[in-house]
Amino acid sequence: MSNSKQIPYSYSRIEIGPLEDSSLMLLIKEKYSTSRVIIIVDENTHDYCLEKLINVSNQFETAEIILLPAGEENKVLEVCFQVWEAFSEYNFSRADLVINLGGGVVTDMGGFIASIYKRGIDFIHIPTSLLSMVDAGIGGKTGVDLGSFKNQLGTFNHPKAIFIDSSFLETLPAKEIIYGYAEMLKHALISDIKHWEEIKSIKNDVDLTSIEILTKSIQIKASIIEKDPNEGGLRKILNFGHTLGHGIEGYFLQTSSLAHGHCVALGMCAEAFISKEKGLLAPSEYLDIENCIRRSFHFISLDAKEIQGIIEVIQQDKKNTGNIINCSLLKGIGNCIYDQKITNQEIANALFHLNLLASSIN
Ligand SMILES: NC(=O)c1ccc[n+]([C@@H]2O[C@H](COP(=O)([O-])OP(=O)(O)OC[C@H]3O[C@@H](n4cnc5c(N)ncnc54)[C@H](O)[C@@H]3O)[C@@H](O)[C@H]2O)c1
Repeated sequence: MSNSKQIPYSYSRIEIGPLEDSSLMLLIKEKYSTSRVIIIVDENTHDYCLEKLINVSNQFETAEIILLPAGEENKVLEVCFQVWEAFSEYNFSRADLVINLGGGVVTDMGGFIASIYKRGIDFIHIPTSLLSMVDAGIGGKTGVDLGSFKNQLGTFNHPKAIFIDSSFLETLPAKEIIYGYAEMLKHALISDIKHWEEIKSIKNDVDLTSIEILTKSIQIKASIIEKDPNEGGLRKILNFGHTLGHGIEGYFLQTSSLAHGHCVALGMCAEAFISKEKGLLAPSEYLDIENCIRRSFHFISLDAKEIQGIIEVIQQDKKNTGNIINCSLLKGIGNCIYDQKITNQEIANALFHLNLLASSIN
């Protein structure tokens, strides 16, 4: 039995609450009593989160720990190869269990590693960043980046369970909380104007990470996945902010590396701008979004060469069909439409607008 709150969801068990009250150990007893347990962490979750997991049960004291280098620049195939070699050396079998303990980089890459090894071994996510609790850990997308292109290699494969314990956030740096806020704003903007009104002015971390607000954000994502798990249509609305956001993130990945959540926030502002320019979003709604994003996120200056470079990355986006760049745009706050064709010129105008904001407000 679990004392945690459960979110109804067909693809994985999702529980929110202290890990020690969750059904994690019961699940292991029932399904993995003879399995070896492999815990994947990065350098920070090794230092800040692993002990808490091991304290839940002494069974974890004998688990194999796989340590990944932290950071998006390490979400690459080369690191996966090293882990697969280690899995092979330890002779892990298909009956074993992977637990991914970390932010979105660990859940994406750990899920991918588990999905590919011996054609797939079971995995569980224990997300430790706000962004992975509300977004990356939910929905079954696993993967790694390829050069400047985000998540180009990956699978759809759902974890058996997702255990969300907000006490992990106590050690998460403040800026990482804000990056998670970006995806929470996205969930509100694409589907729920009431939730947008509720979270757009939240200033303190305590309110943002309350069980009620976390639950709402997770429910929004889970309900979209329920309707379209493999992104045939509706799920594309979750990509709002990500066409231009991934373009910015991918362009800077090889040099200065900007955080995913930061780029999504800038991408949402730019794509809301395009929505307004296309007459889909009222100017007052656009300003509401711009003001909200300005309050929490730093706008970066982009020169003409960088804007051209970002457009070139966007031209390779996996959501494109042929030469057509597809984007999810807002048709009013709380309503998102997908497969909207956007041109290079519209992207350039939006990025120049971001640059203007950077020079006027930073
Ligand atoms: N699969 C999906 O559906 C999906 C959705 C959104 C984002 N993503 C991916 O998620 C990634 C971004 O995730 P993220 O923002 O969590 O980045 P991240 O995993 O790099 O974590 C951010 C930083 O916080 C550290 N950290 C994590 N938990 C901590 C804790 N409790 N205490 C101290 N430090 C901690 C990490 O080590 C890292 O340095 C991107 O790669 C993005 O593409 C995937």
